[in-house]
Amino acid sequence: MKKLNRREFVQTTTAAGVAAAAGPATLFGQAPTVMTPKSVKPVVVSSANGNRYKNGGTKTCVETAFGLITSGSDVLDALIAGVNIVELDPEDSSVGYGGLPNADGVVQLDSCCMHGPKKRAGGVAEIEGVRTPSKVAQLVMDQTDHHLLVGKGAQDFARNMGFKIEDDLNTEKSRKAWLEWKRRTDPLHYLSPKDRDSAHHRVAMEMIADGWIDPEHYYGTINCDGISPKGEICGVTTTSGLSWKIPGRAGDSPILGAGLYVDGDVGAAGSTGRGEANLYNLCSFVIVDEMRRGAHPKDAALTALKRVAKNTIEKRLLNAKGQPNFGLNFYCLNAKGEYAGVAMYQSTYAVCTENGAQTVPMEALFEGRPTD
Ligand code: GLY
Repeated sequence: MKKLNRREFVQTTTAAGVAAAAGPATLFGQAPTVMTPKSVKPVVVSSANGNRYKNGGTKTCVETAFGLITSGSDVLDALIAGVNIVELDPEDSSVGYGGLPNADGVVQLDSCCMHGPKKRAGGVAEIEGVRTPSKVAQLVMDQTDHHLLVGKGAQDFARNMGFKIEDDLNTEKSRKAWLEWKRRTDPLHYLSPKDRDSAHHRVAMEMIADGWIDPEHYYGTINCDGISPKGEICGVTTTSGLSWKIPGRAGDSPILGAGLYVDGDVGAAGSTGRGEANLYNLCSFVIVDEMRRGAHPKDAALTALKRVAKNTIEKRLLNAKGQPNFGLNFYCLNAKGEYAGVAMYQSTYAVCTENGAQTVPMEALFEGRPTD
């Protein structure tokens, strides 16, 4: 007799159990194969801002999402309710309302989401005038045959879906920071693209040192991923993108496989940090694929970060030690409920389990800071 492996055993015994409960008529008929995922300890992971901002309420993003998941809510609905808190909080200058604007002073937002069990996804890039792009991304997923809407088309779609379109998503804080950046960079200088790039980087680093920008918020972003007790996995990423970006620049956050990737049978991975480095390497896809091959989330993310480091060869992107001079962070979990936060350089991330929400250190590929 053929030995059953564990997965076949679960399927077979579950189907038999259902058939037996349903009575003899189905016992010998076409009993459906019922997949019963084994029970998993639920967890929500996110970037550190997911356990910092409350938008005047009592709970952070990860606490909210975890509470909803364990109360039986759809996992993606729960994660999006969580990141909405950060999108709406004017104090987080890297996500949603009050996110640092582009080079013209306009806040343009990116987001995408993936639903593991439904195997569906949606995203928006460079959307203006909507505080919660993650909600629009979810509607692209639910209401259209497409995966990504950009710019004016994304905004028109949001309007048609009943969203209020606002003229300006700047807060006083983000507008003042943009004015300071404008003053420091003087756009009337016709610098070569190379010089302009290094001038922008230098000014950004000076503004971070002078306290105008939170170092975590130059690229910013929130990614949040969760797994329910039934093993359902979803994820969402939302951002205002790189501060002072060229208008129209889309980063990694709205791109499936870069800012986020979910395979409901395997796991989820999402990112914050330098989007260009992640776009070039499609790290979230790589991480989920590594987990598919059996790697622990921590090792899967380290593999992706090593690839980024190997592919970073331009001098302007390297520090004195020849390492990448930027941050890039991944938040990942697998179908067993194992999770990790892994960064190019030391940072922190948020985790919520049955023991509550915590902000904990990430595993880091390199010691020190990007600019050392
Ligand atoms: N990771 C956010 C961005 O680069 O836009």
